[in-house]
Amino acid sequence: MKPIESLIKDNIKSLKPCQHGAEVHCAAQESGFKPQEILDFSSSVNPLGPSKKALDAIQEAFVEIVAYPDSNSNVLRQTIAGHLNGITKDNIVVGNGSTELMYLFAEAFLKRGEKALMAAPTFGEYERAVRKTGESVKFVRLDKSFQIEAEAFKREMTGCKLVFLCNPNNPTSKLIPKDNLTDIIDVALSQDILVFLDEDFLEFVDDEKNRSMIPQICKYPNLFVLRSFTKIFGLTGLRVGYGITSKEIADVLHCTKIPWNVNCLAQAAAVVAIKDETHLQITRELIKKEKVWLQTELSSIQSFSFTPPDANFFFIDIEKTGLTANALKHRLLKQGILIRDCSNFVGLNEFYIRVAVKTHGENMRLIEAFKRALKPV
Ligand SMILES: Cc1ncc(COP(=O)(O)O)c(C=O)c1O
Repeated sequence: MKPIESLIKDNIKSLKPCQHGAEVHCAAQESGFKPQEILDFSSSVNPLGPSKKALDAIQEAFVEIVAYPDSNSNVLRQTIAGHLNGITKDNIVVGNGSTELMYLFAEAFLKRGEKALMAAPTFGEYERAVRKTGESVKFVRLDKSFQIEAEAFKREMTGCKLVFLCNPNNPTSKLIPKDNLTDIIDVALSQDILVFLDEDFLEFVDDEKNRSMIPQICKYPNLFVLRSFTKIFGLTGLRVGYGITSKEIADVLHCTKIPWNVNCLAQAAAVVAIKDETHLQITRELIKKEKVWLQTELSSIQSFSFTPPDANFFFIDIEKTGLTANALKHRLLKQGILIRDCSNFVGLNEFYIRVAVKTHGENMRLIEAFKRALKPV
């Protein structure tokens, strides 16, 4: 038998293993803490967890486990559409986490030799989704304040088949100014370029409704807007996300995906979670208050540099601490706290970290741990 390596397709051979935040199990092994003892600031999800009503719905759905789930998540798509003006179930596609939809989009639309454009730094799965198809990626560096330079982005966009945008962006926690965003989508439309716009963190932003491009779906047949039940809804481990787009694009992705991609418990929980306005409101108020508190506390650490975040996480330049992100991460892990070392994001050096906004007691522990970790030894 030939070595397995010689049998792998070239585009698959060049893939590297996924690396993200929330590596709680690895962190537990390394630190000696139990996974449930680790305070995870590397994953920017609802610190209150999911809605109680969604958890009850999961229990009620246990009886459905004996059967296949609805392959096209019809009830969930109908429920999501009911929450959005002018959108029908035909405009919605549901994925196994919103990540599945990135991969489906690239797989469905990138033909041989075509390129996808994205910012650097941004969420790493867009690049992997493109590379998995065997096609190539072009990056446009964000400017010094970690904003997209619209002119440069539009210039580089010419000749690309699709662009990935993240609003607000991970890991920088910055919104794309609305004028720049619509300008980029307008130019893309005029050049037949598809736009995959990730709004997974937008529900944490104050003027979400004004910022979202979902109401523009009818105007832009080239636009796909991504949302997730992972972030504000806190259904992280269940894996469910969705896209809002034209019926044509939704139909293509329904044909591209595997059957039964979203399990019955995830569908049942998401249907209830999206209706629990009270839980969302409590979460937003908590995040708003804690962001202000963390902003003050983090600013008092002289060796940290950052600008106010738009999303529910802080992106911090720690170069002045004299430590790399990896070294600081390990000092915090000794205290049972996990942060995101951002050095594997394209376009960043080894001096950036990302921390989520959590509950007050947890945020206090983070600040104390930072201060301890930064004390001269
Ligand atoms: C910007 C962004 N989009 C999408 C995802 C993945 O979300 P999901 O859990 O819905 O696959 C992440 C995860 O960190 C993210 O940061």
